[in-house]
Amino acid sequence: MPTPKRYAIVGTGGRADMFFRATSGAFAESQLAALCDINQTRMDHYNGKLTAAGKKAVPTYKAADFDRMVREVKPDAVIVCCRDCDHDTYIVRAMELGCDVVTEKPMTTDEVKCKAILDAIARTGRKCTVTFNARYSPGETKVKELLAGGAIGKVLSVNYEHLLDIRHGADYFRRWHRDKANSGGLMVHKCTHCFDLVNWWADAAPKTIAAYGCTQFYGPRHGEHGLRCKTCRLTKTCKFYLDLSSTAGMRDLYLNAEKEDGYFRDQCVFGEGITTEDSVAVIVHYDNGTILSYSLNAFAPYEGNRIAFNGSEGRLELTETANTSWLVTTPEGAKAPMHKPAGAKIEIFPHHSPAYEVEIPKVEGGHGGADSLIVRDLFGPPKTSDPLGHQADHFDGARSILIGIAANRSMEWGRPVTIDELVRLPAKVRR
Ligand SMILES: NC(=O)c1ccc[n+]([C@@H]2O[C@H](COP(=O)([O-])OP(=O)(O)OC[C@H]3O[C@@H](n4cnc5c(N)ncnc54)[C@H](O)[C@@H]3O)[C@@H](O)[C@H]2O)c1
Repeated sequence: MPTPKRYAIVGTGGRADMFFRATSGAFAESQLAALCDINQTRMDHYNGKLTAAGKKAVPTYKAADFDRMVREVKPDAVIVCCRDCDHDTYIVRAMELGCDVVTEKPMTTDEVKCKAILDAIARTGRKCTVTFNARYSPGETKVKELLAGGAIGKVLSVNYEHLLDIRHGADYFRRWHRDKANSGGLMVHKCTHCFDLVNWWADAAPKTIAAYGCTQFYGPRHGEHGLRCKTCRLTKTCKFYLDLSSTAGMRDLYLNAEKEDGYFRDQCVFGEGITTEDSVAVIVHYDNGTILSYSLNAFAPYEGNRIAFNGSEGRLELTETANTSWLVTTPEGAKAPMHKPAGAKIEIFPHHSPAYEVEIPKVEGGHGGADSLIVRDLFGPPKTSDPLGHQADHFDGARSILIGIAANRSMEWGRPVTIDELVRLPAKVRR
């Protein structure tokens, strides 16, 4: 058995759990070496899981001691899983100190930070992998396989409607994501997944982006609400009330940890300080002529995607619905699912032959099975081939965020924005 690769995780919030499990026993190839965060309580939470399982706790370091951690622990790679706006600091510094990086999406939040990351990679020769788990969803993988196999000829245009329901969607307006300075807004934070998928599916590089967006549903439009749920007087009636003491995870990671850093996980979705848009329409023109028409809605009654590819030889449609476990009370007092059953469907409509449906394999795990597949790919036994190109590098990371960043600039500047105006990617890697 080869020596396991050693990882340090920076950012020990909710998402770190996937990386924590992958590196603390799931695979012989990967080993957790240290934790780093601004918040000791959150790091202790993860160490508590290790000791409860009879394993040894790993060293913890406050964010200000990142360099010392790398010097003392000597990890092979740093997993960057903190707030989006801080990714660049750790990606660049980890590479300067000789480590590879596995970073959560989005790679970063604006064009200046994006350029700094690309420069650091060029300067240090280190590897930066971006964890686009959405590529690994069984439906998304099947679409890639079908399009690459020519099922509808050349992809000429894509219509993509991305719906976040009022449970999941609202959550972005409670936390740090609500301020675009932290997250780049949903255009960068969330839609980086969707834009990466289209770049990957169409095998094309974005050129010009035009967008219009606003905050229509969340934000300070209901005067009576408090600053946060914990101290609000509307806890009994507000449909968006979040009780941070309701689950062990919320309690340990956020409620018990807030005394250290004032991070309130339950800010009012109808409060002040929200700069993130909840509705955006985007047009993207690609270098191979493909046109993407994209929309985001973060307050939909059900969650999912409705995606259509118009090709030179037909049309492919992918429809996905998620989060059906959300139960609501009917007028009769019974509990009923809020919306349509969860599921995914791929239909192909060739121009000159009958339409047909394509079966999507079922995979267990978070994000429709995507998390278990990406984790095995990145932290498990080495893969011998990657025929569909699932593993995403820094250029994939850059191309996807640059669509969201250009959409943000387009909303600010009131005109279409080219990617080249923001960051010039080398010609040979534009795709
Ligand atoms: N791929 C996916 O499906 C997916 C899902 C959720 C989150 N994410 C990404 O994971 C990352 C973390 O998100 P989360 O939901 O866990 O958020 P979270 O708020 O639960 O955790 C963020 C953590 O970052 C820490 N932090 C804040 N400032 C820091 C700093 N300067 N240095 C070091 N640590 C700092 C916080 O203390 C906290 O522990 C984000 O980049 C997010 O975009 C990806």
